[in-house]
Amino acid sequence: MKILAIETSCDDSCVALLNIKRGRLKILSDFVSSQTKIHAPYGGVVPNLAVRAHYKNLPILLESVLSKTDVKKIDLVAVTTGPGLEPSLWAGTNTARILAMAMGKPIIGVNHLEGHVAANFFSAVIARIRRQAETKQSRGKTAGSPRSIYPERSRRARDDEEGIFPAICLIVSGGHTQLVLIKKIGDYKVIGQTRDDAAGEAFDKVAKLLGLGYPGGPVIALKAKKGRSDAFKLPRPMIDSSDFDFSFSGLKTAVLYLLTPPHPFLSKGGRKGGVVKKLLPQTVNDLCASFQQAVIDVLIQKTIRAAKDYRAKTVMLSGGVAANKELRRQIEKIIKIQIPRTQFLVPDTQYCTDNAVMIGMAGYWKYKRSGGDKMEKIVAKANLCL
Ligand code: KG4
Ligand code: ZN
Repeated sequence: MKILAIETSCDDSCVALLNIKRGRLKILSDFVSSQTKIHAPYGGVVPNLAVRAHYKNLPILLESVLSKTDVKKIDLVAVTTGPGLEPSLWAGTNTARILAMAMGKPIIGVNHLEGHVAANFFSAVIARIRRQAETKQSRGKTAGSPRSIYPERSRRARDDEEGIFPAICLIVSGGHTQLVLIKKIGDYKVIGQTRDDAAGEAFDKVAKLLGLGYPGGPVIALKAKKGRSDAFKLPRPMIDSSDFDFSFSGLKTAVLYLLTPPHPFLSKGGRKGGVVKKLLPQTVNDLCASFQQAVIDVLIQKTIRAAKDYRAKTVMLSGGVAANKELRRQIEKIIKIQIPRTQFLVPDTQYCTDNAVMIGMAGYWKYKRSGGDKMEKIVAKANLCL
């Protein structure tokens, strides 16, 4: 099945063409046009600039993808309908509707968060599951082809699903921080989420406080490499609460307090709005490392506890913050120590952040579950839930 996928939920214009044959994914084209440079001066995404850029970028990306393929052979158009920034979502949904109508093809609206979950099932990861399954098989245990993780209902498929699910997926992006219990593909239950800022949002806001630009995650991760994570004592909000919810706005405020004079470790001068802007480079590195570690500690502790409570066979990471190397390294290590029978999946870093391949994959799952959507259903749903 050939799927043309479009993703415009925030500030990346993404178009991909994929071919899924018997559940196996082949990426034929995959384009992401980043708007980082447009929004960086504002320290965050500016909606009307985002939508303007989407309408400018989408035709260029679509021309690149469609000029290399026989359009008649496309079977499905998949597009993100939500959640996200409403004007951005309209750019994608309107474009997808026009395309599907012009091509006479079915269309499917995709939940962006199911897309992030789907990124765990791309080829590299699938290959790893296959290797693990083969190792198990050689030890005489039940295992099978990884294609069975897709909703094709063979006996073998059920066996494999039993090897992966229930799974706990931590979705950590700029807009979301959620712990999701996945009983099978299409069966999602949000067991915890942030009560205020998302983890990625906290990275972005702290980077803004430190004058490091937008998006904050990658630059904080880079500076953190050269810093000491125990240099500053920062809170771990809600780390011991009995639920699976998160809260990151207090952590951001704690960094703000550290930056509010007088403070002995800060260099003099450069005050703006009561916050010291000129910091010694090592102070910035230490602040980044300490902040990053506080976020990681909370995310890992809650995820591991959820995995234990729900007896998860797999822990998955998704979303832009899942690209954070320290988070990936530390959670993998703790899983190996504390819940060694649980397997760990994480997308390649390029598929942690927004992309259209994940939307195509989730669109395929949904299409197999319930068929195509009516054209009038393809509308922007800014607050769509999983
Ligand atoms: O999933 P995504 O591309 O867009 C949303 O759906 O929100 O995530 C973007 C978020 C941004 O907040 C960005 O700062 C964060 O992911 N991010 C990171 C890293 N790379 C991106 N956060 C921490 N470490 C990173 N390496
Ligand atoms: Zn996202």
